Amino acid sequence: MIENVPGAAEAARLDAADPLRRFRAQFDLPDGLIYLDGNSLGALPHRSIARASRTVAGEWGRTLIDSWNDHGWIDLPITAGLRIAPLVGALPDEVVVADTVSTNLFKLAGAALALRPGRRAIVTDAANFPTDVYILEGLAALRGGIELRRVAHDQVFAALDSDVAALCLSHVDYRTARIEDMAVLTRAAHAVGALAIWDLSHSVGAIPIDLNAAEADFAVGCGYKYLNGGPGAPAFLFVARRHQEAARNPLSGWLGHAQPFAFDGSYRPASGIRRFVTSSPPVISLSVLDESLQIFAETDMAALRAKSQAQSDMLIRLVEAGCKGLGLALASPRDPDRRGSHVLFDHEEGYAVVQALKRRGMVGDFRVPNGIRLGIAPLYNSYADIAHAAAHLAAVLRRREYDAPELRVRAAVT
Ligand SMILES: Cc1ncc(COP(=O)(O)O)c(C=O)c1O
Repeated sequence: MIENVPGAAEAARLDAADPLRRFRAQFDLPDGLIYLDGNSLGALPHRSIARASRTVAGEWGRTLIDSWNDHGWIDLPITAGLRIAPLVGALPDEVVVADTVSTNLFKLAGAALALRPGRRAIVTDAANFPTDVYILEGLAALRGGIELRRVAHDQVFAALDSDVAALCLSHVDYRTARIEDMAVLTRAAHAVGALAIWDLSHSVGAIPIDLNAAEADFAVGCGYKYLNGGPGAPAFLFVARRHQEAARNPLSGWLGHAQPFAFDGSYRPASGIRRFVTSSPPVISLSVLDESLQIFAETDMAALRAKSQAQSDMLIRLVEAGCKGLGLALASPRDPDRRGSHVLFDHEEGYAVVQALKRRGMVGDFRVPNGIRLGIAPLYNSYADIAHAAAHLAAVLRRREYDAPELRVRAAVT
């Protein structure tokens, strides 16, 4: 606990008036924990605990293999996709849940290259999330003769020309939280005949997304961050309807086949989005994600966004007031319309600061080189969390709690 928290009275007022307040009780959060890391691993919904138990004991345990048909296991990639579609501005048949973000990006970037034969380049932001860059590197090497143009953020437009098959960007930057203008960048890609692939991992479930209004071609996104699907939850992918019959999944596995149980000797893609499924769905984790997604049907993205913006504005204001002269600098856009749902502060002892915060019962994360990243999940974070978080951060810096040598030992996962 911490005494005399600046902003506590304001936070109490805002919490009392918060139209989303009821959602916090739907999550199994440890008492007293200030969890500002829902952008890395979302919290556990109570209903998902019950679903996991139902899937394992009630379905796997009782009806065994018949559950594929009797409990709709085989259709889970599609049913969970139906729940994500309205969150990203997709039509119901444009989203499927499968695999991981990395694997899905490989599938879609491979499909994009095949849709633009003769073009030899892919453009991405050099500061894009590393797995996206690594996957594109791997794909380029596999295909041969493909140039991966990793450019500075302000060079993206200049890197687009008639040799580019695809532009691949994150909608919200994993470090700074900067939001890209999806419509403008997609239009720029289309103007040179390229396709646009978006990584929605840091925006889905936190900010409104309209893939079809932006005329995006392809997208991928993460299930375990703001969607609260649990550690290693499957990811999703989007293919605009106009591409679905021509796009080919390079990971042409049996469950993307038109008739998997015909056991044909060669691959024939299913029609529509189903062809982007590759393998047997991970039923247990997919069921948990499917359950967590149902919470979103009880609210709308505009309400979540309004709360997230109010909270991130409040966090910046309180942190800057409490940490003046203590070596902290805002590294996210100040304009809330250009900022996603997390806030990055740089401090030269960022790693040890994040560890010191954990000792106080406040969880954020560290991102190299110096970033203290605080994620706001408006479904369960209260305004009181925000005021307390700012007070803890100020106390850690003022008292130099980060100087403790044991806080400098880096763990495998930061
Ligand atoms: C932007 C972005 N893309 C992808 C991933 C993860 O990809 P994967 O599902 O392959 O682990 C993350 C994880 O933090 C991410 O932030």
